[in-house]
Amino acid sequence: MLTEIRHKFNVSEIRKDFPILNRIVSGKPLIYLDNAATTQKPECVINVISHYYRNFNSNIHRGVYSISAKASEEFDYARKTVRNFIGAKSESEIIFTRGTTEAINLVAYSYGRTNVSEGDEILISAMEHHANIVPWQVLCEEKKARLKIIPITDKGEIILEEYEKLLNEKVKLVAVCHVSNTLGTVNPVKQMISLAHRQEIPVLVDGAQAVQHMKVDVDDLDADFYCFSSHKVYGPMGIGVLYGKSSCLEFMPPYQTGGDMISSVSFEKTTYNELPMKFEAGTPNVEGAIGLKEALDYVNRIGIENIAGYEKELLEYASYKLSAVEGIKIIGTAAEKTSVISFVVNKLNALDIGLMLDTYGVCVRTGHHCTEPLMKRFQIPGTVRVSISFYNTKEEIDYFADSLNKVIERLRK
Ligand code: ALA
Repeated sequence: MLTEIRHKFNVSEIRKDFPILNRIVSGKPLIYLDNAATTQKPECVINVISHYYRNFNSNIHRGVYSISAKASEEFDYARKTVRNFIGAKSESEIIFTRGTTEAINLVAYSYGRTNVSEGDEILISAMEHHANIVPWQVLCEEKKARLKIIPITDKGEIILEEYEKLLNEKVKLVAVCHVSNTLGTVNPVKQMISLAHRQEIPVLVDGAQAVQHMKVDVDDLDADFYCFSSHKVYGPMGIGVLYGKSSCLEFMPPYQTGGDMISSVSFEKTTYNELPMKFEAGTPNVEGAIGLKEALDYVNRIGIENIAGYEKELLEYASYKLSAVEGIKIIGTAAEKTSVISFVVNKLNALDIGLMLDTYGVCVRTGHHCTEPLMKRFQIPGTVRVSISFYNTKEEIDYFADSLNKVIERLRK
């Protein structure tokens, strides 16, 4: 049983928890290597959602009857699980959103529109994905502020000296990914936060590609905002989390308005609810919260350190296998990486490679990975990206590398 695995990692047992991993596609066993786009769901997550709808589906915090009380209790418990998972001080600092994108938009809208003025600056890095670029760009256009970019090296690492030079009294926020979705680079966010805080600049960390790979403690990082998506950490789609220090959230106006986020409404005046409800207008995603809680419990049972250790082994193995492929160039070779490998193959189109890998049952992502400015930085139109989870195996990596060699041979003919 999974609950017994604490110090060892039995991947064949783990795989039994994920029904989709037994599927045959294109007449071949499914080899799922697109985990940075979304992760597969364990049976317990699928079951808990079905159980909710079969047994106590009801609206929360409103019903006077027992199934509504049960739904409310499970929803509230989910928030507590998230709080513990990321080491937040209080449940009131955990806001459920639709995902990372909505979390960033919330901060850009609420914090940004009250704290950013003409001539101010927002700092982001050159490796951000569109969700951590566009909300700031729109804010800057509206406020006549400037979006400034922290440069990166050819290995795909943030240049800390340049970052330090960019910090000044005009900067109203730094927004940076903990882990790059395209390169796998793990950024030194703790150090970056500490440098920003010396000048009292708050920092938002986009953790969409981090929480599934490593232990995250928002209190230890001292992040002002931290966000992630459920579906990237084995939970359902359509729900995510914004962590915010209560000292920030308290002073931010609501992002959306309506039911639940109010304390009282009259035609003359509305007063707002306390945190976190102030930022959760309307009926929330109850099935999502319950599913996310189950996913985090599942990850906790396996142990995030065990997951990180095994994924590191697979990353090293896959990097070694890929380095032997003729004409390949790996994009993103940072010293600190999660299990993501992006690559280009001399003169071949990434999309063609992805489409042909599918005929072997191999799922990878191709293209710009919602990081068009990063592609421009590396002067490439796109990459093939392999992203590995703890349910993948060395045999799958072997099969993938063999398939890739066959695909390249076919494309070169
Ligand atoms: N941001 C997700 C990815 O990197 C969708 O694939």
